[in-house]
Amino acid sequence: MCGQKTEAKKETKETKAEPQYIRIPKGCVNVIVDTTKISYVDPKGQITIIRGYRIDDLGKHASFEEAAYLVLFGRLPCEDELKEFSKKLNSERWLPVKVIDALKQIPPFAHPMFYGSYGLLLLGMYDPDEGDLSIDKLYDRAIRIIAKLPLLFINGWHLSRYGRLIEPDRSLNHAKDVLRMIRGGNMPTDTEARAFESSLVLYMDHGFNASTFTTRVIASTLSDMYSAIAGAIGALKGPLHGGANQKAIEMLLEIGSPENVRWYVEEKLKRHEKIMGFGHRVYKLHDPRTDVLREWLEKLAETSGEAKKFLDMINELEKTMWELKRIPSNIDLYTGALYYLLKIPKEFYTPIFAIGRVVGWTAHYIEQVSNNKIIRPKEDYDGPRGLTYKPLEERCKR
Ligand SMILES: CC(C)(COP(=O)(O)OP(=O)(O)OC[C@H]1O[C@@H](n2cnc3c(N)ncnc32)[C@H](O)[C@@H]1OP(=O)(O)O)[C@@H](O)C(=O)NCCC(=O)NCCS
Repeated sequence: MCGQKTEAKKETKETKAEPQYIRIPKGCVNVIVDTTKISYVDPKGQITIIRGYRIDDLGKHASFEEAAYLVLFGRLPCEDELKEFSKKLNSERWLPVKVIDALKQIPPFAHPMFYGSYGLLLLGMYDPDEGDLSIDKLYDRAIRIIAKLPLLFINGWHLSRYGRLIEPDRSLNHAKDVLRMIRGGNMPTDTEARAFESSLVLYMDHGFNASTFTTRVIASTLSDMYSAIAGAIGALKGPLHGGANQKAIEMLLEIGSPENVRWYVEEKLKRHEKIMGFGHRVYKLHDPRTDVLREWLEKLAETSGEAKKFLDMINELEKTMWELKRIPSNIDLYTGALYYLLKIPKEFYTPIFAIGRVVGWTAHYIEQVSNNKIIRPKEDYDGPRGLTYKPLEERCKR
């Protein structure tokens, strides 16, 4: 007011207590939460990038070891670096006896995704340095987890169901040996191994998807890497995320033949049910990972009538879904079919997704803890207020 001394407004803890909150859409739709140098998912579905390279380029050409090195260290390895990295990964392909003993106790009817998270937490308990966040230790731990996670899934499965311990064959590369072990020792052909490896590379990293974001949330509390990856496995297990590849093959088998596709889709859509292996939060036009896997299915279809039938069904599904809903297929429709053709039990499809994505999870863990701020959003409370506590005898009086 005129003539009165105005007091400068000082910011106090009290005035700061209610900042201007930003309300973001449910499900974080179209929200960017942080910067990353690891990967970029292209909404147009053309140029999805991992560390500067197109994901389809890597899926077609890179070995698991090369792509894992790239995701972790930010560039493709030279020959000696690749040799060293592969040796390190190989040397970590074993499980402690106590972990093997624990895996013998798990029930055979459990979903194998549980074996991964349970086993990782056990490995964390046996790692005396689990909380050491120095960079060398982080990379060592990442390599250890990438190498051992397949063994946890595989031995959880084979020990609990058949009482068999499957030993790694260190003369084989990571992807070929993982496929061999999943199939109980049945050696894949080179084509089978390379198709499988290609799918692992395509799964390796993909922006801030739900399981990767879970990893980053857990990492942001500076919790250990084992806990963060165990949490990511839990997020991946759901049918809206990694669980979709198992659901997709169940759907393809239920449909049975291309002639049944239209009827099947129409019936599902009438009941407002989802068609598994279709739709994506970012890709609304096309998932570029499907191009590489389509090539593999076409290659397999040259000699397999079953692969040809799956391809025909996929073509018909894609045509029908685009016509009726304008929704494209995603990677899980293709890996669902591919893994069936590779004679893999369907409960293993989502663990395989994890065996690829674990590389991205560990890289995101390291990126998050290296430039950290705890991830802690604010709630919009919409429940009752002003209630007062009443002792038990006065509550619920009729
Ligand atoms: C992946 C997924 C969870 C993305 O979810 P989202 O970005 O939240 O998209 P929404 O679920 O809101 O879908 C938007 C619309 O498309 C429909 N839709 C999305 N995916 C669909 C699908 N697979 N089948 C049928 N309809 C689908 C939704 O019902 C919704 O329709 P509406 O607007 O009429 O209600 C979703 O597409 C899905 O559940 N797909 C099936 C599971 C799957 O394959 N997951 C693997 C992803 S890699």
